[in-house]
Amino acid sequence: EWTMGSYVDEAIADIRSVVGGKKVLCALSGGVDSSVAAVLVHRAIGDNLTCMFVDHGLLRKNEADLVMQTFAQEFHMNVVKIDAKERFLARLAGVTDPEQKRKIIGEEFIRVFEEESKKLGHFDYLAQGTLYTDIIESGTATAATIKSHHNVGGLPEDMQFELVEPLKTLFKDEVRALGTELGIADEIVWRQPFPGPGLAIRIIGEVTEDKLDLLQEADWVVRDEIKRSGLDREIWQYFAVLPNIRSVGVMGDERTYAYTIGIRAVTSKDGMTADWARIPFDVLERLSTRLVNEVPHVNRVVYDITSKPPATIEWE
Ligand code: XMP
Repeated sequence: EWTMGSYVDEAIADIRSVVGGKKVLCALSGGVDSSVAAVLVHRAIGDNLTCMFVDHGLLRKNEADLVMQTFAQEFHMNVVKIDAKERFLARLAGVTDPEQKRKIIGEEFIRVFEEESKKLGHFDYLAQGTLYTDIIESGTATAATIKSHHNVGGLPEDMQFELVEPLKTLFKDEVRALGTELGIADEIVWRQPFPGPGLAIRIIGEVTEDKLDLLQEADWVVRDEIKRSGLDREIWQYFAVLPNIRSVGVMGDERTYAYTIGIRAVTSKDGMTADWARIPFDVLERLSTRLVNEVPHVNRVVYDITSKPPATIEWE
């Protein structure tokens, strides 16, 4: 009889027999897949696993802290956090084209990963949270997750590891069940999909630190309100977008000229197609009020009512 418990035992035995006493590196993003893979590999080989968490500064509010709190503090894993915000922002300065942003972030991610992992010593294996669907879609065996997540051609020649991919026979819902079985908190197990380039592709036009701060606050309000409303598991993705426009408003007896926040919320099965979420008006009302009141420099809120196709889920 198949149970999640027996799957865990088998997977652990499997990892041990493949890796033996060798060192394994894992790129932890805080997403569901890499989190579950890392915890599973850690169960199997303990301190022979080192996780590298590259904080590119484009994550959501409190996200980096949550990752460190969960994996370093709670699970006592070896997690090395790399603060690379300055590097990424410097490379993104003046860049407005969406594909250019993706390319820069992907390349910079690999560069940081390469430089920093060298400092940590030698690793024979790279653990990845590749799912069954990732393999079907890309048909590749080389660093598939990092690649697809960051839109890059792959790891450099001299960084070819053997891969450990303990989730490669599983679908997303099975990975979530496995994560819960391993004791990972709902906050991570039920996380919505988040793109590798992060908030950089939700800030339309140039990414600046001020805009990043603003969007992190706005995004936090959206997540908090959707969760409070109990809609978080029905909606596939829900987030704030910062278009590159300001408009006129009035607050008290002052005229304002401030930013617009776009709310994007869609239902979907796999992200390939999506329908705009029919969020109740009272929830939209609270979102609008809170965004204007709680996020400085915002005086207008719009709700994106386009499905995919013709629109994409992200705005860039
Ligand atoms: P779109 O915007 O193409 O998004 O409808 C479909 C799904 O993919 C995510 N997405 C990305 N994920 N790197 C990623 O890792 C990216 O560059 C990227 N662009 C979009 C998006 O959040 C949605 O889940």
